[in-house]
Amino acid sequence: MNEEIRNKLGVEENKPNDWFEVLYSESNESGNGVPWANMAPHPVFKNWIDKTSSLKKEKTALVVGCGLGDDAIELEAKGYKVTAFDVSESAIKLCEKRFPDARTEFVQADLIQGVKPWFKQFDLVLEIFTIQALPPKYEKTLIQNVSDFVADDGELIVIAEIQKEKRSYENGPPWLLNNDYIQSFEACGLKQVSLQSNNETEVGEEMHLAIFKR
Ligand SMILES: C[S@@+](CC[C@H](N)C(=O)[O-])C[C@H]1O[C@@H](n2cnc3c(N)ncnc32)[C@H](O)[C@@H]1O
Repeated sequence: MNEEIRNKLGVEENKPNDWFEVLYSESNESGNGVPWANMAPHPVFKNWIDKTSSLKKEKTALVVGCGLGDDAIELEAKGYKVTAFDVSESAIKLCEKRFPDARTEFVQADLIQGVKPWFKQFDLVLEIFTIQALPPKYEKTLIQNVSDFVADDGELIVIAEIQKEKRSYENGPPWLLNNDYIQSFEACGLKQVSLQSNNETEVGEEMHLAIFKR
């Protein structure tokens, strides 16, 4: 079943970024054919930010794997100075078309490579479903690179689906995370300060919204 999905999408373990560009290049500003396109902020993130955030003028935020850009625009509306990146050039072009008046800077960049100039540059880093969209063999690198973006005193929000079964390439995409992702972020110098767990998820056993601080 998963092999069928991988073949259909053109997923390759050693070229894990390529199928995203194909998907977005065949899509449009309505997000047609992009399975995760809500065309709205992620509901778990929206719920969190509406409850917890006051205006954050002057604070910087980075959205990892921003897709069609709605989470970035939500952070901009809350007052953050936002940078949002995705590996797909076509996704970034769609963000720019959808939000022509946005102040958010949409940038093409690869989380597997990391982005050195962004080392400890962001007060808030938001990661929703990007780590789980890439094969497990990249997990350590991805977690290190996401952690590196978080400023001293900054915070990281991770929204991810969790499975009990050990992650394996054969079982994805998506490659839902195991609970030990928390220790992995902590090994990169962050400390988990809060964890919301929600059982209403389409594919995983649980959905987490985890907050880490440096
Ligand atoms: C499952 S989607 C989630 C998108 C968005 N965060 C959301 O919740 O709707 C994963 C996103 O990560 C992007 N992505 C995949 N590999 C990436 C990489 N190496 N660097 C940056 N973005 C990547 C994809 O293009 C896609 O937009």
